Amino acid sequence: MRRSTPAEGATRPDTPYLIDSFGRVATDLRVSLTDRCNLRCTYCMPAEGLDWLSGPDVLTNAELARLLDIAVTRLGVTDVRFTGGEPLLRKGLDEIIAGTAALHPRPRISMTTNGIGLARRAEALRAAGLDRINVSLDTLDKERFVGITRRDRLADVLAGLAAARSAGLAPVKVNAVLLRGVNDDEAVPLLRYCLEHGYHLRFIEQMPLDPQHGWDRAQMITAEEILDRLRTAFDLTPSPARRGAAPAERWLVDGGPADVGVIASVTRPFCQACDRTRLTADGALRNCLFSRTETDLRGPMRAGATDEELADAWRATMWAKLAGHEINEAGFAQPLRPMSAIGG
Ligand code: 5AD
Ligand code: SF4
Repeated sequence: MRRSTPAEGATRPDTPYLIDSFGRVATDLRVSLTDRCNLRCTYCMPAEGLDWLSGPDVLTNAELARLLDIAVTRLGVTDVRFTGGEPLLRKGLDEIIAGTAALHPRPRISMTTNGIGLARRAEALRAAGLDRINVSLDTLDKERFVGITRRDRLADVLAGLAAARSAGLAPVKVNAVLLRGVNDDEAVPLLRYCLEHGYHLRFIEQMPLDPQHGWDRAQMITAEEILDRLRTAFDLTPSPARRGAAPAERWLVDGGPADVGVIASVTRPFCQACDRTRLTADGALRNCLFSRTETDLRGPMRAGATDEELADAWRATMWAKLAGHEINEAGFAQPLRPMSAIGG
């Protein structure tokens, strides 16, 4: 099999934006603020955790602020999402968000979190400039939560969700991954819970990103299965909302206005509409969750590179983006970093 390469013969146009050789433009930056986490979800990490990045390897808040400024003011990034690991563990998170919100033009700012500690922090995050939040929640059952995350923290997550809503981090989104034989009977209860609380639920097909390499295509709960389970209790019709680059296919629930999203990353890849660019906590750029290569910005930055040199390295990285992730191709190889070190 021939791996797809950047479009042959194309030369990078003279534009400040993050364009790739297939014509996609990246405007959505995902920043991993730390690779650490206070949960140990079985599909993400082994019980003992991973070899965390060491302190000096992680970008300082000042370095991060500089790269965010370059992304927004030179490269056309309009949306910034903070991820991890668990971004709430990052020291100075409120200041990082406030600094991002002070950029011109101000980007939209969101965060993906496991919700632990959010109950205490939602108000301050909102005040700092956070616009929206995604909270991961795979089960509503206390024992199962312990089984999946290896920590007894379900109540904290539910309290965090409620606090996010009260703080006006709207819409509050919930991300759920269904695992066969573990929580795949919870599609309906999770949707009921989210409907009752006004949260927007999105199911995500499990992707091969775990360091244990335990992902098994045959075991994965597919988007079709999720929809079948939901249809046992709800009437689902395609949502008229424009999908754009958003990965979730949305369905109106019982005629709306509430909806549910399904992100079929594996069975219905949406790579052709991808508008993402990624920065890891140690300052590596990735043009795809599944990249096998990265561009180090920390080294050049610490060696004195100018803003324009860093911006140009970023443009070159995105220009080299492949057509798609190829999970469904023979010879697919997982990225070298796990999800927790890349950022979801
Ligand atoms: N496949 C799909 N989603 C995953 N997440 C973590 N690992 C995977 C995976 N292998 C989810 C988390 C969280 C978000 C960051 O991504 O549950 O909601
Ligand atoms: Fe932490 Fe998210 Fe990984 Fe769970 S999936 S261990 S919450 S980084």
